[in-house]
Amino acid sequence: MKTKFLKTSGPVRARNIRTAAQLIRGGGLVAFPTETVYGLGASTFSIRAVKDIFRVKGRPQDNPLIVHVWSLDQAWILARSIPVMFWVLAEHFLPGPLTMVLKKSDRVSDVVTAGLDTVAIRFPDHPIARALLREAGVPIVAPSANLSGAPSPTTAQHVGEDLDGKIAAILDGGPCKIGVESTVLDITHRMPVILRPGGVTREQLEEVLHMRIRVARTTHLRPASPGMKYRHYAPKAEVVLFEGKAKPALRAMKTYAEQLSGKGMRVGVMAEGPAGAAFSKYHFVSLGTSGAASAANRLFDAFRTLDRRNVSAILCQGFSEEAIGSALMNRLRKAASRRIRV
Ligand code: TXA
Ligand code: MG
Repeated sequence: MKTKFLKTSGPVRARNIRTAAQLIRGGGLVAFPTETVYGLGASTFSIRAVKDIFRVKGRPQDNPLIVHVWSLDQAWILARSIPVMFWVLAEHFLPGPLTMVLKKSDRVSDVVTAGLDTVAIRFPDHPIARALLREAGVPIVAPSANLSGAPSPTTAQHVGEDLDGKIAAILDGGPCKIGVESTVLDITHRMPVILRPGGVTREQLEEVLHMRIRVARTTHLRPASPGMKYRHYAPKAEVVLFEGKAKPALRAMKTYAEQLSGKGMRVGVMAEGPAGAAFSKYHFVSLGTSGAASAANRLFDAFRTLDRRNVSAILCQGFSEEAIGSALMNRLRKAASRRIRV
């Protein structure tokens, strides 16, 4: 299959969004930008296309997909019942990086929800995603547009690395603003539970709901969200995560890097920009200079960059778990094969 690369700047924008929408309506797969990461979209109501998503990504059959909508009214079609909490949270955070899990209606196929009786609904805040959804006229299921297990894509180039030749088209909307996925919040019970930390933080949710919100723990036995049990977001190189205060973490990383390179290994290092000078002997990628927010934004690109440089290990600095730092550390821990506390 020849994958179309569709630009969305300048005069071709409207035409290319129309083309992408037609492909989706016809049962094709189209990658598109959102404010979090790129999604791999298909019509929610085309079972064959939904199955193609699982096949193309190599995604385990038991990992359900998020349904994207262009207006909140569509929740009525997808959900069996809508708790008041949905409207309260929608008013504050939607459109935006918050996905809510509700009891599903009969309109949503078991293939989409991997057999669960719930559906995850997301109303993205990206002009191209919204234009595509509106033009397609159907809710769009979309997991992140990467091969299963690989780092999520935050540019159209990343999508191309994983899926060129396997999908109908890629809508190029430039780099994603947030860089990590949406928060997945289960609101089917009286007490909401964060199944995946993401773009909307726990602190923000607690402030609006005036209650403490639990974050589901990842367990391999009974995951609250099927996606939680898989190794994820991981580059090919082995990731070693250094958790703790920045100074001792960077010192430990330096010692560790010396040991590995002493054994003849190619070493990659990811840390905040100013640390670069100390790691100039290695393959250094900066995670920016504004803490967890810039690190979250650069994380997946950094993984892919270091994989292209063929390093065999990536040493990464940890961050504090406040606000977006919680989503960042969640992704780093899932990618890491070794965690070192300093
Ligand atoms: O930001 C995002 O959410 C991106 C963009 C493209 O919208 N999408 C995304 O999709 O990250 P994906 O498939 O990579 O991750 C969806 C997560 C998985 O962990 C999945 O298990 C969980 O949401 N999920 C989906 N439906 C669910 C449901 N009904 N109940 C519990 N978890 C669900
Ligand atoms: Mg994903």
